[in-house]
Amino acid sequence: MSKLNQINTKGIILAGGSGTRLYPISKVYSKQLTLIYDKPLIYYPLSILMLGGIREILIISNKETVPLYQKLFEDGSQIGISIEYRVQDAPNGIAEAFIIGEDFIGNDSVCLVLGDNIFYGNLKFFYNALQQNSGATVFGYQVNDPERYGIVEFGVSNNVISIEEKPEKPKSQYAVPGLYIFDNRVADFAKNLTPSGRGELEITDVIAKYLELGELRCEKIGRGVAWLDTGTPEALLQASNFFGVIEDRQGLKVACIEEIALHKGFINIHDLKNMLDKIPNSLYRNYLNGLLREFREQNLGVIK
Ligand code: G1P
Repeated sequence: MSKLNQINTKGIILAGGSGTRLYPISKVYSKQLTLIYDKPLIYYPLSILMLGGIREILIISNKETVPLYQKLFEDGSQIGISIEYRVQDAPNGIAEAFIIGEDFIGNDSVCLVLGDNIFYGNLKFFYNALQQNSGATVFGYQVNDPERYGIVEFGVSNNVISIEEKPEKPKSQYAVPGLYIFDNRVADFAKNLTPSGRGELEITDVIAKYLELGELRCEKIGRGVAWLDTGTPEALLQASNFFGVIEDRQGLKVACIEEIALHKGFINIHDLKNMLDKIPNSLYRNYLNGLLREFREQNLGVIK
């Protein structure tokens, strides 16, 4: 375990894919940079990793977009984390992330989150899963359009019987969201996969490998957690409205990575103050300013 991480799990955000369902914007722009209410989509999955205490993160995207992420997050040190970047040359599938990230993963476990997956609500299911150090943990989330996702079938004692990618005849309504935790054998398993009919190294095949070994856990995510889809313009609008309503009602931001860094103790108020000096006048800056005042008044956040 490295010094920065508080747990021996590293994080990968795969922000690839061609995003063709968002054409014409997809011609020039990465989906994960699209604004969800008041911040880029990728902030939401990044915030999940940070909330889980994961501070060593690899962002994988295509070669045109990696420089944009580098501009956005730099090396991550301003928010007390470390961010590395790697290129996925072509959309060869989600499982390729483990091959690209093999040296980054090293001897640790890895949590992969897809750059377009948003989770909101009680994340206990995720925090508990991060305590496991071997095998694989994935999640099951009930949806009403199961043919669009990887689908798990459960047995009587909630054991997983099968997993299938976008089945025509789904065996359950439990989709596997794009948030996965694997031990460090995952890179080897990914290397031994054969591409699917659509020419991709499928994440479901990696999960199926752990199932075959009897080392797969699948935790059902119950009510009260929102897993939002962002595949279409309509879904993006819905997600924006969802967070707009919540943020306006409470005056609290969701997925504000600077705030999370402060609350988690990744940075202190002096770091936040320094950061604020570089942020242009904006609603986002006003929010962080308010946070700084609040922390100062309560005399919090001085210990790094
Ligand atoms: C991918 C995975 C699928 C998973 C989904 C979650 O599908 O292949 O198993 O359920 O992400 O978002 P995609 O939406 O990339 O086609």
